[in-house]
Amino acid sequence: MSSVLQIERLTRHFGDFTAVDGVDLEVEEGSFFSILGPSGCGKTTLLRMIAGFLEPTSGTVRIRGEDMAGIPPNRRPVNLVFQNLALFPTMDVAANIAFGLRRRRLPGADIRRRVASMLERVGLEGYGGKPIAQLSGGQQQRVAIARALVLEPSILLLDEPLGALDLKLREQMKIELKQLQAREGTTFIYITHDQSEALVMSDRVAVMNEGRFEQIDTPQGLYAGPVSRFVAGFVGENNILEADIEQQQDGTARVRVTGGPVMQASLMQPVSGSRCKLYIRPESVMLEPDTALEGINRFTLEIRSLLFDGSNTKVLAAIDGTGPELIVALPQTGQFIHVRAGDKIAAGVHPTACGCYPE
Ligand SMILES: Nc1ncnc2c1ncn2[C@@H]1O[C@H](COP(=O)(O)OP(=O)(O)OP(=O)(O)O)[C@@H](O)[C@H]1O
Ligand SMILES: [Mg+2]
Repeated sequence: MSSVLQIERLTRHFGDFTAVDGVDLEVEEGSFFSILGPSGCGKTTLLRMIAGFLEPTSGTVRIRGEDMAGIPPNRRPVNLVFQNLALFPTMDVAANIAFGLRRRRLPGADIRRRVASMLERVGLEGYGGKPIAQLSGGQQQRVAIARALVLEPSILLLDEPLGALDLKLREQMKIELKQLQAREGTTFIYITHDQSEALVMSDRVAVMNEGRFEQIDTPQGLYAGPVSRFVAGFVGENNILEADIEQQQDGTARVRVTGGPVMQASLMQPVSGSRCKLYIRPESVMLEPDTALEGINRFTLEIRSLLFDGSNTKVLAAIDGTGPELIVALPQTGQFIHVRAGDKIAAGVHPTACGCYPE
């Protein structure tokens, strides 16, 4: 597979503040790549340098092998979809989509054909003559994406394009966007601070923090093996327990949970000293594990409360009654759905599901 985008040591200072700090990145042609990070970590700054709206302080951006230094945005094979969409409110849907093609002075018949095909591909057949103001939020979103895709960019850059939509519509658009990307085969670089968007849609995700990439991996890889506390805390849900390391060897550790039991854990980063943090995902705690199952950490959970949420129902429970509390996902089979506060349940968690990080 060939890479469509290569970034090396890309850095951007604003005065003495470093917004993007030596980022290296390679994105495979035709993939859905997300950059995930909290507000202010430098995502938009990075995207603007790829698009050519902002000069890097140092480092290089190459698209299909060509160095982009000094090449203005309109001559780069990329298009950008903004969070606020920036549609032309007085033009109809077709005119919005046709805008870039007209600027390129394509023949009228060509433009009409391309716009019609694009409308169909984003599910807006028959909407060409509608004014933008009469569309729903999700439909406007699709127009913004159609307007960028119709120009057949090598890379489509999307800056939090679902940010303005309500939750339900966002859920739906996530699936639509992923399907659209797979159909079109265009490389998407998608920035978001919403980990679930990144996990659902992406082939690969870069987790960004304070101008740097902490980890680049598949969604499964990030979820299963976060390399730092930041990634473990940002991607997916986690219980975080205070603990002390009693012994460590070959990537595993025996730790004493503060106010709780001794557990076997996986060392995710070198820890010097004894204090550490233990990360345990809500769904990795087994309830009433088979007594024959060897090598797991066993304890009792005393239920404090049921956090009912349909198939996502969890419980809040104290380890051995008096220890720290854990949020534990209940099996989707509905087993344990009738537990109540005060119930005691045997529980277990595999050492590989207890990630130990330095404090
Ligand atoms: N033109 C500028 N001048 C000075 N500082 C800037 C400029 N643009 C961005 N910054 C700073 O750089 C940092 C990164 O900003 P950026 O917009 O890239 O963050 P972001 O990750 O996109 O955040 P959000 O999720 O809130 O959009 C911020 O601290 C911001 O204040
Ligand atoms: Mg931003």
